[in-house]
Amino acid sequence: MDIVDTQATPDGNPEMADAAPEPKAPPLIRREDYTPFPWLVPEIALDFDLGLDRTRIRSALTVQRNSAAVPNDMIRLNGDGLTPVEVKVDGEAINDWSMDDADLMLPLRGDSHLVEVITEIDPSANSQLMGLYASNGMLCTQCEAEGFRRITFFPDRPDVLSTYRVRMEGPKDQFPVLLSNGNCVAEGEAGNGRHWAEWHDPWRKPSYLFALVAGDLVANRDSFTTRSGRKVDLAIWVREGDLERTGHAMESLKNSMKWDEETFGREYDLDLFNIVAVSDFNMGAMENKGLNIFNTKYVLADTETATDGDYDAIEGVIGHEYFHNWSGNRITCRDWFQLSLKEGFTVLRDQLFSADMGSEPVKRIEDVRILRSVQFPEDSGPLAHPIRPDSYREISNFYTATVYNKGAEVIRMMRTMAGPEAFRKGTDLYFDRHDGEAATCEDFVSSIEEGAGLDLGQFRLWYSQAGTPKLSVRLDHAGETATLHLSQQVPATPGQAEKKPMPIPLRIALFDPETGRHDGEKLVVLTEAEANFSFDGFARKPILSINRGFSAPVSIDRRIDSEDLVFLAANDDDPFARYEAMQDLVVGHLREAISGSLDQAGISAGRAAIRKALSAILQDDALDDLMRGELMIMPSQSYLAEQMLVADPAAIHREREGLKAWLAGELGSELLALHDRAGSVSAGSDAAARGARKVRGQALAYLAAGDADRAARLASAQYDAAANMTERQSALVALAGLEVPQRAERLKDFYDRYRGNALVIDKWFAIQAQSLHPDALQHVKALADHPDFTLRNPNRVRSLYMAFAVNPHAFHAADGEGYRMIADLILALDPINPQTAARFVPPLGRWRRIEPGRAELMRAQLERIAAAPNLSRDTHEQVSRSLG
Ligand code: TRP
Ligand code: ZN
Repeated sequence: MDIVDTQATPDGNPEMADAAPEPKAPPLIRREDYTPFPWLVPEIALDFDLGLDRTRIRSALTVQRNSAAVPNDMIRLNGDGLTPVEVKVDGEAINDWSMDDADLMLPLRGDSHLVEVITEIDPSANSQLMGLYASNGMLCTQCEAEGFRRITFFPDRPDVLSTYRVRMEGPKDQFPVLLSNGNCVAEGEAGNGRHWAEWHDPWRKPSYLFALVAGDLVANRDSFTTRSGRKVDLAIWVREGDLERTGHAMESLKNSMKWDEETFGREYDLDLFNIVAVSDFNMGAMENKGLNIFNTKYVLADTETATDGDYDAIEGVIGHEYFHNWSGNRITCRDWFQLSLKEGFTVLRDQLFSADMGSEPVKRIEDVRILRSVQFPEDSGPLAHPIRPDSYREISNFYTATVYNKGAEVIRMMRTMAGPEAFRKGTDLYFDRHDGEAATCEDFVSSIEEGAGLDLGQFRLWYSQAGTPKLSVRLDHAGETATLHLSQQVPATPGQAEKKPMPIPLRIALFDPETGRHDGEKLVVLTEAEANFSFDGFARKPILSINRGFSAPVSIDRRIDSEDLVFLAANDDDPFARYEAMQDLVVGHLREAISGSLDQAGISAGRAAIRKALSAILQDDALDDLMRGELMIMPSQSYLAEQMLVADPAAIHREREGLKAWLAGELGSELLALHDRAGSVSAGSDAAARGARKVRGQALAYLAAGDADRAARLASAQYDAAANMTERQSALVALAGLEVPQRAERLKDFYDRYRGNALVIDKWFAIQAQSLHPDALQHVKALADHPDFTLRNPNRVRSLYMAFAVNPHAFHAADGEGYRMIADLILALDPINPQTAARFVPPLGRWRRIEPGRAELMRAQLERIAAAPNLSRDTHEQVSRSLG
C-alpha cells in the first residue's frame, strides 16, 4: 500500500454523502499510515535530451523487492502531469501498464527487474517552478518536495534511496554548461553543434535531492581542503554580468565548510561542490547533493546593491544549504512528516554558525524576533501544527516557520539542557548511527537522549503538541527567601483540544536591586502545570531576569513593575534579557494604551518609563552599535497583535506610531546626535561600521515619526551621500513613509539608478509596499500595473504583495480593500504558481484574531477564494483550514 490514503477525511470518518456537489477535497495523508515502499530502487540512470520547450527523458530503474515491506506485485511510479511515451520491463516494451490518476502502475512478477520509461516535457511551460523548468534561457530543476515526478515516473518519496547516473545532451551554444549531482565522469561533442556530459553521484539519495542545470553560466572558482586532506573544487555559477557579486557567497561557503568540521565534526564528502544562482525560484535555496541551487537573492551581493541584512542572509542561507549535506542528505527523512528532522536541525546549525561569524547576542535577538513575528502567529491561528505534523494534503504547505524555526528552538532547548559538549556527543551518535538512512524525528531524539545523557521522555511532547505555551511568572519575597511561582498553559489548537504540560527550560538570574549584580545564572525546568522554586539568601527582594537568551519558545506573562523593567533594560548582563525588558516595557504600555484603560496620568507615566529606558540605551557607551540598534527596535505590529485576544490593527498602528512620534520629540536631539556621530564611521565592512549603519537607520525611523520636514531633509541627505545600499535603503524607507516632495524624487532616482538589476528593483517595490505612507495601498495598486511587475517571478510577487500583506495599516484598510487585493492575487497566481499563491493565504487566515468588522471582510475573501473552480491542492488546503 502506498502512503497516500485516498479514502480518509480530516477527522478520519468516511466521506459523508452530501447533496451539494462540493468539489472533492484532495486526499489527506497521515503520518500514522506510513509503510515502507514494496520495492527498492538501488540504481537509476537518466538520459536527458535537452530543449527549452521540449525535453525528452529516458529513465532506467533497477528495482528489487523490498524484503522489509509487504510484498506487492505492482509498482506505483508517481507522476505529475506526465504521459509515458514508452514503457519497457527487462528490455521488452509492455502494454499492461495502467494509470492511477497521475501515477504509472506496472505489474512486476519477479524479484528484480529493469524498468525503463520515456517521458517528454515542456520546461518553458512550467510556471510552477517545480520539476524541470526554464529560467532566463537556462534549464534547472527543483525537486523537493515532490517535483521529481514532474520529470519522470518514480517512487517519489524520501525513503527510496538510489545512486544516480545522469547523461544529458543539448545544443552547445544554448547550454554550454551541463551540471548534475556528484562528479562529471565524461563529456564530449555530439555533432551538429551539440554536446553531452555524464555525471555520477556515488552517494545514495532520494529523488528530491536530484538536480540538473544546463545553461550559459560562468563560475567563480575556488577550493577548500578538508581536515582529512580532500581538496574540494568549489564553483558558484551565475550569469555573465553577475560574477563580481559572488565573493561574499564564496567566503561564506568556505567558512561554512570549516565551521562544520570544527563545530559538528562534519567533513564534506565529494571532490566538487557547485552552487547555481537562478532568478526564478520558489524559496530561498535547495540543498541538492553536490549541486545546490539558489535564489539569486541569496548569492549576489556587493555594497552598492546589497544591505548588511542581505549579506547576513546570504551567509546564513549558504551555511544552511551546506549544512544539509549532513543534516538532510547523508541522513535524510523517512517521510515528509519528519521534515523538521532536517530543517529544524539545519536551521539551528545555521543560527549557531551565523552567531559564531558575527555577534552571538544580536543574532539571537534577530532569530527570536522572526520567531515571534512569524511563528507565534502561526501557532495561535487556524494553520497551527506541531513541528512534526500528523497529516497534510499538500506538503509544500508545511515548509513553515513552525517546522523550521520552532523546530530549531526545540533542538536548542535540548542543547541548553545538556550543555554544548554533551549535546555534541548526542549529535555525533546521531550522525554515526543513522548515516546513509532515511530517519525519523524519534531517531534524532533517542540519539540525543542516549548520547547526551538526558531523559527526553516528556520532552517528546514538543514534537507532538502545537501551540505556544503561555507561562505565568510571579516572584515573592519573605524573610531571606525568594520564591518563583511558575505555571504553564498550552493553548488548544486545531485538532488538539487538550494539552499536557511540557518541560520548559528557563535560564534565570536574580538581581540585587542595590548592587545591580546577581550571583550566577540558574537553569530551572518547569515540568508540571504549576511549580514553585525557592532561593535563599536574599535580604532584599531581587529583580527577576527570566528566559534569558530565550531559552524556551514560550510567551511569558510576568507581573513586574515598570521600574524593574527599566532596571533590567539598562543593567541586565544577558543581552537578550535586556532587549526583552525593553520590549516588555513597550508592549505593556501599548497594550494598555490600545485597550483604552489608561488615563492621561497613566499614559504619561508609561511614556516616561520608556523614554528613560531608550535614553539610557542611546547614551550607554558600553554598548556596541549593533546591539544598540537592536535594543532600539520597537516591537512589531504583528507581535503586538499577538499579545491581544482580538486585535484592532488601526489602534495598534496609531498608538505605536504615536509613541514613536512622542519619543522623536522628547529625544530628538539625542537621536540627531546619534545619527550624526554614526554617520562619520559608517563606511567599511567591520562590525563598528555595520553597527553605525544600523543605528543610523533606527534613529531615522524614530525621527521620521516626528517632524516630517526635518526627517525628510535628514533622510534625503543620507540618501544622496550614501556609499552603500544599507544607508541608501534606510533613507529611502524613511522617505517612502512621508508626504514630502523628496519622496517621489528619491524613489525615481533609485529606480533609474538600478533599473535592470532585478534584486534592487525588488527592493524598490518592497519599500513602497511596506511603507508607512497613508496611501500605501493605492501605491501598491499602481505598482501592480508597472511594466516591471510580473506574476511569473516569485521574488517580484513577494516584493510587492508579501511586503503589502505584512504592512498592517495598508493591508487592514478598514473597507477591506487590502483583503480583496490579496484574494485577487491568490486567484490570479494560483493557476501559475500554486505554491507561491498558497503562501498568501495565512495573512487572511488570521481573521479570528482581528476585530469583528474586519474579521468578517477577511472571511468573506477566504470564502470567495474557496468558491473558485479548479483551485490547486496548495491553496485549497490553506483556505479550507483557515475557514474551518
Ligand atoms: N529544502 C530547502 C531548504 O530549506 C527548501 C526548499 C527549497 C523548498 N525549494 C523548495 C521546499 C521548494 C519546497 C519547495 O533549504
Ligand atoms: Zn533547509
